[in-house]
Amino acid sequence: MHARIHPSILAADFANFERELSRITTADMVHVDVMDNHFVPNLTFGLPMVQRLVQVSPVPLDVHLMIENPDRWAVGYAEAGAASVTISVEAAGDPVEIARGIRRAGAKAAIAVKPGTDVEPYLATLEEWDMILVMTVEPGFGGQSFQTEMMPKVRRTAEAIAASGLDVRLQVDGGIASGTIAEAARHGADTFVAGSAVYGSDDPERAIAELRAEADAALSTPAH
Ligand code: DX5
Ligand code: ZN
Repeated sequence: MHARIHPSILAADFANFERELSRITTADMVHVDVMDNHFVPNLTFGLPMVQRLVQVSPVPLDVHLMIENPDRWAVGYAEAGAASVTISVEAAGDPVEIARGIRRAGAKAAIAVKPGTDVEPYLATLEEWDMILVMTVEPGFGGQSFQTEMMPKVRRTAEAIAASGLDVRLQVDGGIASGTIAEAARHGADTFVAGSAVYGSDDPERAIAELRAEADAALSTPAH
């Protein structure tokens, strides 16, 4: 299993997304944080922006929905051409039904759990998800500190995925940088969102390569 790096354009220059995307062509996907100022106290962009980003991005889109009522909106992001659509499970009426709709529209379906949300109920329906996102910060803003306390949740999720034999990725998002990426990888995360750590660098593609190498090294030496 190789580590996947998904830079978050939340940390990019909002006036120059096409140029900013051209700086991360070696990323596995680009992470797109959709926030509605209701589910989280911050506002970014919505479907028209994602439709356009799909057209200009050199890498597939990993759309992270931090919005109320994903039951109404999530499938539209899959139809827009996002490769993966993650819903915030706390906002979802029927997460399984949403996931099925996302998959029918041709995208991967994922759920995110906030730091205070128990992942356990969702581990019983792993076949419905292509990825689980364990948030390592409170969703809403980039540049926050990684919450080490989430590592038992990451570990538990990784164990449930391994036991299932299913092809489900395990993503972490928030405060991922050199050091924290290795910690998350040792606990079983395999897909890493990094905003500040990539776009805060003078050379985003070098930052991607360094993060990937650090995670790959940690994945081959898991913690016990
Ligand atoms: C936070 C977002 C993250 C954010 C991460 O709510 O979901 O994707 O962009 O930013 P960093 O990597 O700076 O913590
Ligand atoms: Zn995110």
